[in-house]
Amino acid sequence: MKICRRETFNAAHRLFRSEWSDEKNREVFGKCSHPNYHGHNYVVEVFVDGPIDPITGFVIDLKVLKTLIQEEIIERFDHRNLNLDCKEFEGINPTTENIAVVIWQLLRKKIDAKFGLEVHVAETEKNKVIFGGE
Ligand code: NI
Repeated sequence: MKICRRETFNAAHRLFRSEWSDEKNREVFGKCSHPNYHGHNYVVEVFVDGPIDPITGFVIDLKVLKTLIQEEIIERFDHRNLNLDCKEFEGINPTTENIAVVIWQLLRKKIDAKFGLEVHVAETEKNKVIFGGE
């Protein structure tokens, strides 16, 4: 059984490699390489899977999962500049892929290993990445 909690946060970022020219960065990263940063409304879906607990009827209490995502992810990244404000992205380009990996790593430490964990992150309505571990 797999359950999901969906949350959103807003953050700024810039995708670039400092050793590349502005032209090369624009070519590879498009608008997301704009030098003065820009924002996205990120949608995060956290999937937890495991058996249904016969006592509660839950896989995991969604209130607990909600609080965990709020404390570990939303409070950390909402209204931040991912490049400048968030040590989690030091030396890492804050692509949707890397955001999903960082979120998965933060949550994996806090969710019992007996549960499976998968993180979906969407930067726009049209693009979504999925990370479930190595
Ligand atoms: Ni962008």
